[in-house]
Amino acid sequence: MGKPKVVLGVSGGIAAYKACELLRRLTESGHEVRVVPTAASLNFVGEATWAALSGNPAGTQVWETVHEVPHVRIGQGADLVVVAPATADMLAKAAHGLADDLLTNTLLTARCPVVFAPAMHTEMWEHPATQENVATLRRRGAVVIEPAVGRLTGKDTGKGRLPDPEEIYEVCRRVLARGAAGPDLAGRHVVISAGGTREPLDPVRFLGNRSSGKQGYALARTAAARGARVTLVAANTALPDPAGVDVVRVGTALQLREAVLGAAGDADAVVMAAAVADFRPAVYADGKIKKKDGQEPAPVNLVRNPDILAEISAERAREGQIVVGFAAETDDVLANGRTKLARKGCDLLVVNEVGETKTFGSEENEAVILASDGTETPVAHGPKEALADAIWDRVAARLARRTA
Ligand SMILES: Cc1cc2nc3c(=O)[nH]c(=O)nc-3n(C[C@H](O)[C@H](O)[C@H](O)COP(=O)(O)O)c2cc1C
Repeated sequence: MGKPKVVLGVSGGIAAYKACELLRRLTESGHEVRVVPTAASLNFVGEATWAALSGNPAGTQVWETVHEVPHVRIGQGADLVVVAPATADMLAKAAHGLADDLLTNTLLTARCPVVFAPAMHTEMWEHPATQENVATLRRRGAVVIEPAVGRLTGKDTGKGRLPDPEEIYEVCRRVLARGAAGPDLAGRHVVISAGGTREPLDPVRFLGNRSSGKQGYALARTAAARGARVTLVAANTALPDPAGVDVVRVGTALQLREAVLGAAGDADAVVMAAAVADFRPAVYADGKIKKKDGQEPAPVNLVRNPDILAEISAERAREGQIVVGFAAETDDVLANGRTKLARKGCDLLVVNEVGETKTFGSEENEAVILASDGTETPVAHGPKEALADAIWDRVAARLARRTA
């Protein structure tokens, strides 16, 4: 088998220079890359840079090397097309099927997965025209990764930044690895909670848990690579924002509930991977609780937190929404899991055994996915992304049945 063939489309945004790094990453990891820049993008990075770094010609027009019919051949031969940065203009052209240069022709002839990494000012990104173009592209099966939040071209900051080249590379790698399975969550919106809540006792102390957020982040990365629009509600994680994902940061169970319910309104699936505290201190002390000589500490009274999983399962924000829960158990794992699935009323429950050295913080996981129809799918010990993909396989199958 030859090297996977990647077309790197570069459109005319200030972030075009970051595509040099992406190109490097792709060629160094064994991909054959053909760069197709737009004429506007050559104002930022010249043709010579693309040709030298890729080892291939890097023309912008359909009128060059016409005998090779590049406007058809490049797209037909590709295993993946990634457009980074994708300008507002390029998203509009792609959504409407325009074909006035080599890149737009390539986008029409490609039958492989297509990834767009948009980058632009916040106003351009938020404009209804751009948002509708993005929705159209997603509905047709393209993977459009959400721009990052941060410093933009000038002194301003906001949403619209091109994610780091390494992160775009990781999305490309995952999309390529799926091969013919393709982006089966394209056009879907999924909400994922990750991490562990912290329930404050006083300004310096909290009740927390050992969740690192790694499983939830793996779910977010894999869902993005399968084409979903992803909202990740992250509770107290130290992990970097995954590329192409909207991240909402929260602290407590009540904040997590608000963020999940807020995002779930139009979600096709909600996956509750966060470890949410069942209880919180009944009283929050405004000042640090002090030791007092000769006195025992006052007992900490707890009150129940709302059961978010049961709540979203009982009151689905939209018809056919798939709800997935996690159950971390220390003993009688499966029996407890089955009872919890019935009690919570969710569609899938991912049950795993936990302990100080198991699951929490680890790069790997093993679990059984229990389904409301009684099926049980064991997922062997392996990377958290493998478990995440096994969960999405089941969610995607259910969503496909819903729309069939
Ligand atoms: C300095 C400068 C920076 C620009 N940055 C962006 C950008 O980040 N995103 C974007 O959508 N358009 C940006 N534009 C506007 C595009 O270059 C313009 O819409 C162009 O027509 C895009 O052509 P293309 O999509 O064929 O590459 C920028 C323009 C200039 C002059």
